[in-house]
Amino acid sequence: MSVYLDHNASSPLHPEVLEEMMPFLASTYGNASSLHQSGRFLRSAIETARARVAGSINAHPDNVIFTSGGTEANNLALKGFVEIGPQTTFISSQQEHASVLNPLKQLQQAGCSTYFLPVDADGLTDVNVSQQLISKHAPDLLSLQLANNETGVIQPVEQLARFSHANKIPLVHCDATQAVGKIAVDFQQLDVDMMTISAHKFQGPQAVGALIVKSAAMISPQQSGGYQESARRAGTENVAMLVGMGKAAELARIKLQERQSILLELCRYFEQQLVTIGGVVIFGVNATRLPNTSFFAIPYYHGETLLMQLDKAGFELASGSACHSEVTLPSHVLSAMGVDEDLALNAVRVSFGIDNTRQQIDQLIGTLNDLINQLPAVMRQVAN
Ligand SMILES: Cc1ncc(COP(=O)(O)O)c(C=O)c1O
Repeated sequence: MSVYLDHNASSPLHPEVLEEMMPFLASTYGNASSLHQSGRFLRSAIETARARVAGSINAHPDNVIFTSGGTEANNLALKGFVEIGPQTTFISSQQEHASVLNPLKQLQQAGCSTYFLPVDADGLTDVNVSQQLISKHAPDLLSLQLANNETGVIQPVEQLARFSHANKIPLVHCDATQAVGKIAVDFQQLDVDMMTISAHKFQGPQAVGALIVKSAAMISPQQSGGYQESARRAGTENVAMLVGMGKAAELARIKLQERQSILLELCRYFEQQLVTIGGVVIFGVNATRLPNTSFFAIPYYHGETLLMQLDKAGFELASGSACHSEVTLPSHVLSAMGVDEDLALNAVRVSFGIDNTRQQIDQLIGTLNDLINQLPAVMRQVAN
């Protein structure tokens, strides 16, 4: 069986989460909006899940609008922003996830103004430059991720949210999808108005997430229908998934410190050995990063080729590049950081989970060295 090292893409369901979900998949039935006993039972399971999710990020249960995941929550925050109109101005960062960048593109096509904050060579949003741009453009909504999915770099959200509110910017949204379960995430402390989270990034089920909102009145629903989720997200609830998200959120809160130290130890051990490979570049290395993420490039080894070779050898990683119409493009995150295109096309990401081991890392480093040694010497010399 392959060694899974792609936990930022999706993390395995925790066994205790599956256990709590099972009765809702196998033996309960009904609709949580029904007034009879079965309906009331499901409603109470949803409200328990809501309280657990809220508790894991220091929010109130009323703040939680369940969605089908991070993508929907980001779309809801941006397109559902109630004061939206052709004059609306948005500011975000160049390195956001596609589920922020693409809705913003649509909003721009609809006449809204969009501006993007630059990042430095380590992938960190520059606070001074950002403050100047926020003051200059006075956006109606600022949207900033808490941690980048590729580099793992943790962004100055609290600082920029406080600055924005002090400067009368009405709303700040934070995409915290990659942060929950890996670092402490505190909705109140961050001083944001809306926050996106997604269960499958913290060992919950896929296709369930939430938009956390200071007040549901900030948001107009993107799908109309029934009155579920304070009339902000119509549709019959997927109770088993919500129960799973609730349990995963509770575990993420209780086990945060234990998980962080395991992940940090694994990541440090990996990078200590990785840097012994000639010419290797670790992106975001001077910034504070998520404890589980290492994004790197070997200058003479094409990222996708390396990924395929590692996959064949039993290691599952992610590539930094994206395929569009059969053309491989460098990661937009690395482009924003000013990384040379050739180097960016070599980028690969390892993202650890708590069940990974030092032994797996030793095997991965051994395989990387074997693959490099199989390259013609002339290619390897490029980096030495
Ligand atoms: C930073 C970030 N935001 C949003 C998403 C989208 O989340 P979901 O997969 O739940 O739609 C992802 C997924 O990788 C992500 O990394």
